[in-house]
Amino acid sequence: MCGIVGYLGEKDTKEILLSGLKELEYRGYDSAGIAVLQDGNFNSYKAVGKLVNLEEKTKDFVTDKFAAGIGHTRWATHGKPTELNAHPHVGQSSYVVHNGIIENYATLKKELTSEGVKFLSQTDTEVIVHQFEKNLKKSDSAFEAFTKTVSELEGAYAILLVTKSEDKTIFFAKNGSPMLVGINEENEKYFASSDTPLIGRCSDVNYFEDGDYGFVTKNQLAIFNKKNAKVEPKFTKLSTNKLSAQKDGHRFFMEKEIYEQSTVISDTLLGRLRDSQVLFDEIESSLFDGINEIKLCACGTSYHSALSASYMFERYAKIKTSVEVASEFRYREPVMTQDTLFVVISQSGETADTLETLKMAKRNNLKTLVICNVDNSSMVRLADASILTRAGVEKGVASTKAFATQVTVFWMLSLYVAKLKNSLADAEIARQIKLLRQVPASVKVTDDRHERIKRLSKRYLHGHGFFFIGRDVFFPLALEGALKLKEISYLHAEGYPSGEMKHGPIALADPELFTIALLPQHLLYEKAKSNVEELSARDSTICVISPIVFDKADDFIQTGNHEDYMLEFFEMMVVVQLLSLEISVRLGNDVDMPRNLAKSVTVE
Ligand code: AGP
Repeated sequence: MCGIVGYLGEKDTKEILLSGLKELEYRGYDSAGIAVLQDGNFNSYKAVGKLVNLEEKTKDFVTDKFAAGIGHTRWATHGKPTELNAHPHVGQSSYVVHNGIIENYATLKKELTSEGVKFLSQTDTEVIVHQFEKNLKKSDSAFEAFTKTVSELEGAYAILLVTKSEDKTIFFAKNGSPMLVGINEENEKYFASSDTPLIGRCSDVNYFEDGDYGFVTKNQLAIFNKKNAKVEPKFTKLSTNKLSAQKDGHRFFMEKEIYEQSTVISDTLLGRLRDSQVLFDEIESSLFDGINEIKLCACGTSYHSALSASYMFERYAKIKTSVEVASEFRYREPVMTQDTLFVVISQSGETADTLETLKMAKRNNLKTLVICNVDNSSMVRLADASILTRAGVEKGVASTKAFATQVTVFWMLSLYVAKLKNSLADAEIARQIKLLRQVPASVKVTDDRHERIKRLSKRYLHGHGFFFIGRDVFFPLALEGALKLKEISYLHAEGYPSGEMKHGPIALADPELFTIALLPQHLLYEKAKSNVEELSARDSTICVISPIVFDKADDFIQTGNHEDYMLEFFEMMVVVQLLSLEISVRLGNDVDMPRNLAKSVTVE
């Protein structure tokens, strides 16, 4: 998730921009840059890696006059983390920074290139500044050109643009990606992607709505809405607690990351869905030439998303799929054939066991793909191809949005391969794509739902253990729910296939054994229901999560009526994530930094 800052005023613009970017470091990034327009001249600096590299580059740059400045930390989605791909992006006499994804950038870029525009980067963002300058040539003002440019963009964006012809102005536009503007008594204007860079600088802020655009000058803040009507700013008081601001007001990063799954999954989907086709512009379809099997390899939560993927690859793409725990796979002298596509899954891209299996596959000349959340990580650099999950930085050690975006990518990839192998009719692919578009809504957390789980969690603080049970693709979700609970509550939990309980574990059934049963309406409901009834008959304490009321449960969390089990999957995923969080809170544990755990296990 990129970070944006902007400043218009007479103070030290460079210091304000750099300190603002520092406040956004928690969002994660792999490059950064600033551009300052003062006295009619631009100075711009960009650096890969940490902000200290940018500070080093700008140490002799002085900003002691009225200036318009913009800054950016980049979390790569299109194009590798390089200086050329870092923002701000430049045209002839303008600079732009952008957070989000311009879905129609390829079309715009093709047209601009045909008109002789030279692109320096691989990013989608660069089209904005060139499109603006193209419009500037035909407009009566920079604002008219900016307005036309914004109207031509599709996708999600938070944009700041400065241009030489209006050197005391910053233009802005917001749609789908967050951005706010702050003012103070000194008539300064501050922009940022989130609160923290503005805390201590200004007191009144306006959070832009989707479709808002406009400009600021020393004495003006002009906002226009998506109907092109001028609107008055809606100022609110800025919070003063930086850590709380970094958590968007939530108690924990994990809680924030559960709540932002809806937003980040929208990013994961952006630019990849057409009516009856999935597009991944970062891979070639030839990756699947000669492939008869997919082998997925990962650890922990990423292993659970890989298990979920195996059901979808076999069901939709009709391709033989196997799943391996990386720490096991690397030592069991596996047979590896070259008609196998080796896929590693990793949020960090640095997990030692998973990385080693990727090296094994490379040594055996298998084609390799990594599904990862961190561009330029070891696995991304090593694999033949990579698909980024675009979850933004995940700070909670217990993974949530990384898992959600991994499963989303796999659902899309299974349809992508189904199209290649002609294993699904276009109509079915189109139906599934309509379902994919509903995922962001299915993971939204409602206050009522969260409150119910918070209340219910008080009953699950003891006992001699938990079973999370599910069938088919809900079995990996059961494993994931159990892992979440273990990780942050330190209570013992197992994920188990519902149908396996009668082969031994049911001997544990008694009122102190807590079973969390996933009962989707659209996948093997009757079978799973009878498994739960077997446990209920033996007096196990049962919490059923289902759209269908289940009167033999001790606790019941009713989920929505969806048209497909995969949407039930995502909604139930949020329930088990919140349940583990609220149990952990009641036990007084450190939700974000659980004992004995590290966010990325880079050792064996
Ligand atoms: C997930 O909640 C855990 N923190 C852990 O299992 C994690 O998924 C595992 O270490 C793999 O990490 P990776 O996805 O970065 O490779």
